[in-house]
Amino acid sequence: MSVWAVVVAAGRGERAGLGENKVLHRYGGVSVLSRTLRALQKSALFDGCVLVLAARDRDACEAVFRQEGICPLVRAIAEGGQTRQASVLNGLKALPEDCEIVAIHDAARPFVSEDILARSIELARQTGSGVACAPVVDTVKEVGEDGGVKTLDRSRLRAAQTPQTFRRAEIVRAAQEAEKNGWLATDDADLYERCWGRVTLFTAPDSPANIKLTTREDFMRGESAFRVGTGFDAHRLVEGRKLVLCGVEVPCARGLDGHSDADVAVHALMDAMLGALGLGDIGRHFPDSDEAFRGVSSMLLLAQVMRMMEERGWRVANADVTIVAQRPKLAPYIGTMRANIAEALGVAEDCANVKATTTERLGYEGREEGISAQAVVLLAKGCA
Ligand code: CTP
Ligand code: MG
Repeated sequence: MSVWAVVVAAGRGERAGLGENKVLHRYGGVSVLSRTLRALQKSALFDGCVLVLAARDRDACEAVFRQEGICPLVRAIAEGGQTRQASVLNGLKALPEDCEIVAIHDAARPFVSEDILARSIELARQTGSGVACAPVVDTVKEVGEDGGVKTLDRSRLRAAQTPQTFRRAEIVRAAQEAEKNGWLATDDADLYERCWGRVTLFTAPDSPANIKLTTREDFMRGESAFRVGTGFDAHRLVEGRKLVLCGVEVPCARGLDGHSDADVAVHALMDAMLGALGLGDIGRHFPDSDEAFRGVSSMLLLAQVMRMMEERGWRVANADVTIVAQRPKLAPYIGTMRANIAEALGVAEDCANVKATTTERLGYEGREEGISAQAVVLLAKGCA
C-alpha cells in the first residue's frame, strides 16, 4: 500500500504576470517546481509522484529538468486540463493500483513543510481526508448582490491550502462524480465533501508559510531579506593525512591536520553561514573535544549547518570560497569541488564558486606549512 503525490503544475500563472508559467520561474537558480518536488522528496513520505504538466510547457519543462535534474520521485507525467480540477483528475487517473493514499499538491507551494505533509497523510489514513488550512488573518466581509455587507466570524474561517490528502479510492470516486454531474470546484476538498459528506481540515504552526505563489508581489516578497557572512580557516599540512578540500580527496603526499577531516574550505564556508545566521562559529557547534566529530566528513557537518539555516527560513543565495595553497595544483579538481558545494547548498552551480590561489610563496601557505580558506555567503529569504 503506497502513498503518492499528484503535483499540479499545468496552470498559466496569469496573476503572477511573469510571462511564463510561474512554477517554471527560477529564483536562486532553481525553479518553483523543482523546489516543490524536492520538498516532497526530502520528506521521505512518498513512494512516487505524478506530475501534471501542460503540453504547451513541455519544451520549457524539459529545459528546466535538463538543468536542475528531474526529481527521482516523479514516476509519471500526466497531461494538464483546462481547469485545475481537470488537471487533478488526469493526475489521479495516472496513479498505480496499489496507491492507497494520495496527496494533491500545488506546484506553486514550494514552502510546504514536512510536518504539514505528515499530518495530512496521517489524517487521510485515519479519516479519509486531511486538508491543510491556514487561519484567516484578515476580517472577511461578504458583499451581497444588493451591496449589503455581512462580517463573517473570523475564528470560524479557514483558508484552504494544499496538500489535500485523501484515500485514493474515495477521491477518485468524488472526481468521477464531479465529472459526471458537472460539479465545479476550486479545490479537491469541495468535491470530496459533496461526495462523502465531511472533510477533515487541520492547521499547523507553519501553515502561514505554506503560501501559494500567486501574484507578482508574492514573488517579490522577501526581496530585502538578505544576510551576509564571512568565514576563514587554516590548517597545518602534515604527513600521514588525506588532503580533503570541498569534499574532494586531492592526491597529495601530505594532508591537513585536524579533528575532523580538516576540510578547511568547508570549514570556512560553514563559518560564513553560521556568521550570517548569527549563530557563532563551528567551534561552538562541533567542538574538537567531542569524539563524535573525530575524522568526520565536513560535508556531513555542512548538511547540519544547512538544516539549522532551513529551520530559520533561510536559503543560500550564493557562496564564494577561496582556497589559498601553494601546492598541490588544485585547478583539475575545482569543477568537482564546485559541483559538491552547489549540491550541498541546494543552489545552481553558478551560485557556488570555488577558486584557488597561491601567495607567490609568501607566508605559511607559500612555505607549504598549511592551507587556508576564506568564504563569503549570502543568505536569502522567500523568493528574493
Ligand atoms: N493548475 C493546473 N491546471 C490548471 C490550472 C492550475 O495544474 N488548469 C495548477 C497550477 O499550476 C498551480 C495550482 O494548480 O500549481 C494552483 O493554481 P493557481 O495558483 O490558480 O495557478 P495558475 O492557474 O497557474 O495561476 P493563475 O490562476 O493566476 O493563472
Ligand atoms: Mg488558476
